[in-house]
Formats: sequence, C-alpha cells, structure tokens
Amino acid sequence: MTSKSSTEVVPEVSAVPRHIAIIMDGNGRWATKRFMPRVAGHVKGVEAVRGVVEACAARGVEYVTFFAFSSENWRRPADEVSTLMRLFVTALEREVSKMHANGIRLKIVGDLSRFDEKLQKLIAEAERKTEHNSRLTVTVCANYGGRWDIMQAINRMVADNPGGTDFSEAQLAPYLSLAYAPEPDLFIRTGGEERISNFLLWQLAYSELYFTDTYWPDFDQEALSLAISSYQQRERRFGRTSQQVVEQMAVAKC
Ligand code: IPE
Ligand code: IPE
Ligand code: MG
Repeated sequence: MTSKSSTEVVPEVSAVPRHIAIIMDGNGRWATKRFMPRVAGHVKGVEAVRGVVEACAARGVEYVTFFAFSSENWRRPADEVSTLMRLFVTALEREVSKMHANGIRLKIVGDLSRFDEKLQKLIAEAERKTEHNSRLTVTVCANYGGRWDIMQAINRMVADNPGGTDFSEAQLAPYLSLAYAPEPDLFIRTGGEERISNFLLWQLAYSELYFTDTYWPDFDQEALSLAISSYQQRERRFGRTSQQVVEQMAVAKC
C-alpha cells in the first residue's frame, strides 16, 4: 500500500515521529580530528547506527531511514569506496540476525545494480529474512539519490502506462522507492552541513528539518532525544494557518 501524500491530505501528527530520515554525515571529520584514517570514522559510524536503531525501536518510531552511500559518493577515492562496501557487507553479515530477532524489517533502497554480486545477494537475503517483521522498519539508502529515485519512478510508471500523459502525483507515488513508508516526519543531518545532498527530494516535502554539528559517530541516544524534542516543539501546518492547526487540535481533544 502506498502512504498518503502530504500534498494531498494533511497527515496525522503524533508526538513521536513515525518516520525519521537521517543523513549520517561527519564520519571522516570525526576520524581526522583524532588523527585517525577516515575509515575509522565509518567503522564507528556503524556503531552509531546500531544505537539509533535500538533507541528508535524503544521509543516506538515505526520507520528510520539512513543515507549510507549517495549516487555521488562513487566520486570518492577508490580505497574509501571499497572500504565502505566492505563495511556494508560486514554489517549485513553481523547485524541481520540480531535485527530479525528484534522484530526489525530491513529494506535497502537505491540503484543496487552497481554493487557486486555478493553484496546484492546479502541484501536480497536480508530483506527476505526480515520482510514479515513489523516492530520497526529500518531502511538503508545505498547508491541512492533523490533524482535517481524520481527518474526511476517516472520510467517505470511510463513503461506501465504506454502512451499515457498528464500523470498525477498519486500515480507516481507507488513507484518511488520508499512507497511502503509514510513521508518522513523528521529529517536529521549530523556533521554541521545544512543541505539535502540529493537525499529524499520528493519525500521531504513537509518534513521537519533538524541540523546538528555533532559528527555522526558521536550521535547517541541523547542526541536523538534532543532532535525529537526539537521536533515536538514545531507547529506542522502543511500549508494551513496556525489558527486552523490550533482549532483542529482543540477538536481532536474533545
Ligand atoms: C558520512 O560521513 C558517510 C558517508 C558519506 C559514506 P563522511 O564520510 O561524509 O564524513 P565527512 O563529511 O567527510 O566528515
Ligand atoms: C551525504 O553526505 C551522503 C551520505 C551521508 C551518505 P556527503 O558527505 O556525501 O554530502 P556532501 O558531499 O557534503 O554534500
Ligand atoms: Mg560528508
């Protein structure tokens, strides 16, 4: 089923974000600051993912989505790219059983065709193993780009509707790679940069944005709590006036 679009209906807003999307940035700088190779930051970054996944499960977050490798990250030095791929393989080998035992569903989205066969096989197995779990859905975006996502969706939609014109948002939505999840309520970027870097361009239409200087390897449960507290102070209007939001909340409380 495709989730409702924030531009078509006003979504229900709850105190705990249903979906948190995270750009995990600052691994390299975390390591460089400690006179360590950048790779050490990526290794530490995997541990931070584990902590955030546990915290999300404990707090009742339903979906958490991590940006692990962008379409543009292939531009990095070859040895950094191959280390990142190796880390991805190791993380899948080590973590999937534990995730499964904890009721976590794992999804990997992005253009997976560029990954080697072993990694593609591990990804398919991990998704298959955890597909019926429902406590928390963890999505890892790998070789993902927001523009890639929109283009692959358009291409598949057009292929399914030859000769079609004047398509609607609702027609496109099921083809987007996160169609199984509601749009993110909260977007977090660590590492101090305040940009989207070609992450979920379509899905972030009405997400609350939170930026922190904390480098990803240092992003712990307390840091997540701060982000959620900030989110809880926002008034989400989805295009309406503040007065309408207040009135609707009063009605909901009756
Ligand atoms: C994020 O950390 C991880 C990936 C992009 C794979 P970076 O590696 O971008 O770390 P900085 O931004 O160089 O510190
Ligand atoms: C964004 O971080 C991508 C991931 C975290 C996977 P980058 O470090 O690649 O982003 P830019 O280059 O600073 O925009
Ligand atoms: Mg970076």
